[in-house]
Amino acid sequence: MVLVEGLVSVSGSLLAAVLLLLLLLLYLSPSGPDPRPEGCRPEPPGPRVLPLLGNLLQLDLKRTYRSLCELSKKYGPVFTVSFGPKKVVVLAGYKTVKQALQNQAEEFADRDITPVFHDLNHGHGIIFSNGENWREMRRFALSNLRDFGMGKRGSEEKIIEETRHLVEVLENFKGGPCDTAQPLNHAVSNIISAIVYGNRFEYDDPLFRAMVDRANHNFKLSGSASMQVYNLFPSIGPWVKNRRRLVQNSRENMAEMKSLIAGLRTSLDPSDCRGFVDSFLVRGQSEKESDQRASLFHEENLVNSVSNLFSAGTDTTGTTLRWGLLLMAKYPHIQGKI
Ligand code: HEM
Repeated sequence: MVLVEGLVSVSGSLLAAVLLLLLLLLYLSPSGPDPRPEGCRPEPPGPRVLPLLGNLLQLDLKRTYRSLCELSKKYGPVFTVSFGPKKVVVLAGYKTVKQALQNQAEEFADRDITPVFHDLNHGHGIIFSNGENWREMRRFALSNLRDFGMGKRGSEEKIIEETRHLVEVLENFKGGPCDTAQPLNHAVSNIISAIVYGNRFEYDDPLFRAMVDRANHNFKLSGSASMQVYNLFPSIGPWVKNRRRLVQNSRENMAEMKSLIAGLRTSLDPSDCRGFVDSFLVRGQSEKESDQRASLFHEENLVNSVSNLFSAGTDTTGTTLRWGLLLMAKYPHIQGKI
């Protein structure tokens, strides 16, 4: 009895000490206008932060945009929130975002590369790079995607060819219920393949299926709760199972892409580029020969750009098309017009 009482009083005082410490930290943690040197602009307003947790308790991490919209009602279109220890300035609303991205494009051009995306791309490629590397890769991708048909008649032919294969798959369900996610992802990936590699894959090709599956899996893993926590506290990385899986998936996909690229390299004809990869290789060769500067057209940038095009283009376009199908099923008279 005495022992139990002793334990209760020890754990009680421990709890009191922890609470006291937290209150002290809370009191000491910055809130309201920040005490910067004179002449510096004050930090945008925001809710009071908790030590270590920041404002995590006020944010619904599954629908972060909703929590941020709520906060903007109180703190205005430019405010500060802390995702754990990471302080973030939020721009809310069309007018504010447009003003930043359009009127001050240079200042707002950089993208925050979170630890998970740094693990995967190491600053290479288009989406998860910044500065000169990003500018060059983006410019090259945009002009080449146009050359190989995106937004032009060239891609119309590729899309119509792929649609024939897709319709065959859907007809196999004989009008019964079916999940359109995988067939549409395969079809979209194939159109990107035709633009990137210069050829499509058969839907039952195990290499193709595995690559699309791994890319889709990674899309989900990168948004999972444990990866969001990892992004805030990167030192927990070695213990996060989803991160190990994500890195492994990405390694396997990169290895497949490298072997596809090696195949294209052996049959490269600079006067007849079959797709994005050929153009990239030709540009790399010509920069190497002219040797004016360290070329950015190296293999790491190529593999990561290819991977970016698939991951940026597949789920986005596939999901948009599935909404189209859903709406057409709901409104058959519109379906008729389409
Ligand atoms: C309905 C379809 C699509 C939607 C809704 C969509 C949406 C977006 C959005 C919102 C961004 C900007 C992301 C940011 O700045 O953080 C973006 C960037 C990008 N998208 Fe798409 N996208 C679609 C299709 C595609 C396709 C088909 C491709 C290529 C095959 C593609 C390639 C890219 C690339 C490379 C970027 C990064 C650009 C840069 O860093 O400058 N997207 N997309």
